[in-house]
This record gives sequence, C-alpha cells and structure tokens, in this order.
Amino acid sequence: MIYITGDCHADFRRFNTQNFPEQKEMTKDDCVIICGDFGGVWYDKGDSVYSREENWWLDWLESKLFTTLFVDGNHSNFDRLYSDEFEYSGWAGGKVQKIRNNVLHLLRGEVYEIEGLKFFTFGGASSHDIAGGIVDRYSPTYREDLKKADSTGLPYRINHLSWWEQELPSEEEMQHGLDTLKKYNYDVDFVVTHSPTASIIALLGEGLYEQDRLTKYLEGIKRKLKFKKWFSGHMHVNRQIFDNYLLLYEQIIRVH
Ligand SMILES: [Fe+2]
Repeated sequence: MIYITGDCHADFRRFNTQNFPEQKEMTKDDCVIICGDFGGVWYDKGDSVYSREENWWLDWLESKLFTTLFVDGNHSNFDRLYSDEFEYSGWAGGKVQKIRNNVLHLLRGEVYEIEGLKFFTFGGASSHDIAGGIVDRYSPTYREDLKKADSTGLPYRINHLSWWEQELPSEEEMQHGLDTLKKYNYDVDFVVTHSPTASIIALLGEGLYEQDRLTKYLEGIKRKLKFKKWFSGHMHVNRQIFDNYLLLYEQIIRVH
C-alpha cells in the first residue's frame, strides 16, 4: 500500500490511528509519502529543548507499522539535511537519507521503484512568507536587523534558523534530475514535488506564490514527461487541478 499526503510542519497527528485507521493493515513494506514541509528536521541540532520534542516525534513515526517517506520542502533545516548528520543509503533503486531506519528523505532528482511503480521526486520551493525580509542570524548587526524586521509588521525569516537558501535547488541537483529521467526515458508513474510547476502557480497562486527557477524547471519536465499523476504540497490546499495533477495538504490519499 502506498499513501500520500501534504505538508505536516511537524504536526503528525494526522497519522494517529484514529485519523488514519488504514495503518492497522500496513507493514514496513507499505509507505506514506509526504510532499514536503515534513517538519521533523527543523530545529538547530544543538537546541536541546526542541530536539527532545523532535526526536520524540521521529521515534513515534519510526514506531509506526508503515514506512514514512518525504521530499524536502522550503521549511526544512538544510544546514542539517546537507550536513553529515544523516546517513545516505540505497533504497528502492534510488538514494535516500535515513532520518530513522524507516523515516526516509527522498532526494532531489531520484526515481524510486515502489511496489513496481516509478516515483520521480524533487523537493524544495520558494518561501513566500518573507515580505518583511530575511535577517542573517550571523550578521554583526543581527539584533538591529531583527528589530527592523519586527517593526515592519510583515512576516520575515531568519537565515539558518527559519530560512535556508537551499530551499531552491542547485544547478547540479536540477541536472541530476534530468539525467535520471533520461535513464528512465522520461517515463514514470508518479511525480512527488513540494513546489507546484509554473503552470499550476500561474493558475492558482497569483499574488501569493511567484515563479522561480524551480517552478520553471518542473514545468519543463511536466511537458516532456509521461506520468500518471503529479503530487505537490506547498500551497496548503487539497485540490485536484487536472486529471493528473493533485495539490495535497492534510488529506491522506491512497496511491496504490
Ligand atoms: Fe508548507
């Protein structure tokens, strides 16, 4: 069984047995995929208070009967995801990062074959809640910058604390995705991304979400790729756009 859902932001209550009773029939061979903004790797590693809470939830997910899979989002601590804190390993024909034995980060530009179905995955997205700017945590003027940002009354984020530039992919990651798809002759079953593609943003996101190199990159792939369904998170809505495109938030739906 394969289920899929949208952004969690570290609130995993949707996976308790009451909300998701289907799990009673599942095993570790079955999985739930999260379309980014997983939220389980968010706080500073050295933050003992929050780390305890985060580790508790990761252990809770690990104790579940199913395997948890996620692509990264924009609300992901990339200082940690891009450090050597988590071990890399091969899984279902692709490369993953092991947050726990059965809580796996699906990487950008990989294809995984799960239950005979090919999933192309690509995390990341632009943060849109930054109208008040991005304050650099390590700047000598941090305190003043913070006060200034506070005084705008607009949402702002702090570099290395609540915002990371790796929310958008590097050239290498984008090229890796294209190379992988070429190997699969641009033919997969499902696509899982955090960011929607450019045409979806144009259709629904005007004013709040903007185009960037990732939305354009994904649109280029969408036009060329043969796929059955594309799942994205990020926009915090549950909506089917076309026959083959779904935006997911709290809903958990069965893929296979
Ligand atoms: Fe989100």
